[in-house]
Amino acid sequence: MNSIDTKYISDNIETVKDFVASEMTESQFLSSIEKDMTSLQQFFMYYKCAIMEVETKFKVLNEQFSLHGESNPIEFIESRIKSYGSLYKKMESKSIPKNLDAIESSIHDIAGVRVVCSFIQDIYHLADCFLAQDDIRLIEKKDYIRDPKPNGYRSLHLIVEVPIFLEHEKRPIKVEVQLRTIAMDFWASLEHKLRYKKDLSAAQLRFLSGEMKVCADQSAAWDRRMQNIRNIIGR
Ligand code: GTP
Ligand code: MG
Repeated sequence: MNSIDTKYISDNIETVKDFVASEMTESQFLSSIEKDMTSLQQFFMYYKCAIMEVETKFKVLNEQFSLHGESNPIEFIESRIKSYGSLYKKMESKSIPKNLDAIESSIHDIAGVRVVCSFIQDIYHLADCFLAQDDIRLIEKKDYIRDPKPNGYRSLHLIVEVPIFLEHEKRPIKVEVQLRTIAMDFWASLEHKLRYKKDLSAAQLRFLSGEMKVCADQSAAWDRRMQNIRNIIGR
């Protein structure tokens, strides 16, 4: 049993229960888990490859833009694959059947790429260039820069499908791309940390939400001023 990932077993407790209740031999059980593991690994491999494709597209644009301007429009790129834990939570909250096909079609942010830029205008220019590429299919665009969330959250969100080329097939894979400025990213990181603070009273939470909204508005004003300064100095 030590070759089996114990986390996999705890995540698949129903399979384990089936084994206990069934007449399966240990070797049948092990090979059934191995089969499941392989398809799971393959599933996540698709998303890892899609992230590489999307990252490369942005890096290429960054290189090209930096030839024309004085500095790179992209400060940094951060990517992540959704963890089993948050994937599971999302499946539960949206009542998504627990099979890979349903997960693939219903959950759009298994692969996430965050592109952090210096200026607001760079975000729109990069997004336009990216979306104009003929292998990118736009599924959804949410402009929380133009229309911030009530808490003050700002970013440009794109859900796209990008093809990955495998040995015998080409597969379209969904990726969530978030484009933001450094100021937007700074705010969102802090807000994310606060969100998971469970030991705050209702009054404290109300106060902090108000403070966060003020910070969001101030950082939006900074972004606009920085953009203005760049417009005046001309890049
Ligand atoms: P979900 O992924 O279920 O939230 O779907 P949705 O359709 O509500 O997507 P939405 O575009 O609102 O948010 C997707 C992602 O953007 C989240 O997983 C976060 O990474 C980020 N995000 C959205 N809203 C906030 C926010 O208020 N604060 C922070 N810190 N991040 C946010
Ligand atoms: Mg949401």
